Amino acid sequence: MARILAITNQKGGVGKTTTSVNLAASLGAARRKVLLVDLDPQGNATMGSGVDKRTLKATVYQVLIGAQTLSEVRVRAPAGDYDLLPANRELAGAEVEMVDIDRRELRLKEALDAVTDEYDYILIDCPPALNLLTVNGLTAAHAVMIPMQCEYYALEGLSDLVSTIKKVRAHLNPAIEIEGLLRTMYDPRNTLAQQVSAQLLQHFGDKVYRTVIPRNVRLAEAPSHGVPALKFDKTSKGAQAYLALAGEMLNRREQAPQA
Ligand SMILES: Nc1ncnc2c1ncn2[C@@H]1O[C@H](COP(=O)(O)OP(=O)(O)OP(=O)(O)O)[C@@H](O)[C@H]1O
Ligand SMILES: [Mg+2]
Repeated sequence: MARILAITNQKGGVGKTTTSVNLAASLGAARRKVLLVDLDPQGNATMGSGVDKRTLKATVYQVLIGAQTLSEVRVRAPAGDYDLLPANRELAGAEVEMVDIDRRELRLKEALDAVTDEYDYILIDCPPALNLLTVNGLTAAHAVMIPMQCEYYALEGLSDLVSTIKKVRAHLNPAIEIEGLLRTMYDPRNTLAQQVSAQLLQHFGDKVYRTVIPRNVRLAEAPSHGVPALKFDKTSKGAQAYLALAGEMLNRREQAPQA
């Protein structure tokens, strides 16, 4: 059974998609079987995985509305060792169209149930909003990974996210937990970043990954070539940081007592 992680933060541009794509590639490189779900109408994880969102006949949208099965729609990411459930702008309509659908918060969970034993990890790249798509992601997940930039408003945004997670836990997914907080685009010379990072460690302790993702131009360049940083420049600090994150995640799970 796969471990299902929602990569989420309602704040835009904090590194959710960069983390989703590069973690999927890193876990794939570590011989884990991975499915990456693009749950954002922007389709950035799709493009960043080397799949042209404009030419897709079917996406996660058809899966959510029940028109097609996940197995019919997923593709192999051409640029990485993982499968991709792609998305494009069509998904923007899902919010409205799903209003009349039964059990609408559970659509993704039910779709993933059918394939969960084919994977070790399923990563869900959520959109920058606390909307029905994100709720589908949170309902389907065992845990959330929260990428965040260490800046002034970061902690404030975090409390909104934590209260959404609590609501999802109360009503839809009693087992959901925080897998970890990931410091992204980190610049160790920036005093404010150091302070926010220290606060984060104080509040969340072991939930904060020891691995820090530095600001690294290779991570920003790779998507325009439709590849994870690992394929673009394996030796870059960015690619290496995501490999380290995958290692930290795997170590944590292997050391954790098995239920
Ligand atoms: N560690 C990094 N170093 C340099 N640039 C980065 C890094 N992480 C992300 N970026 C760049 O910052 C921008 C935002 O990153 P990304 O798209 O991953 O964020 P996001 O949270 O998915 O955004 P959205 O909320 O729009 O979905 C992108 O241009 C990306 O290439
Ligand atoms: Mg994104």
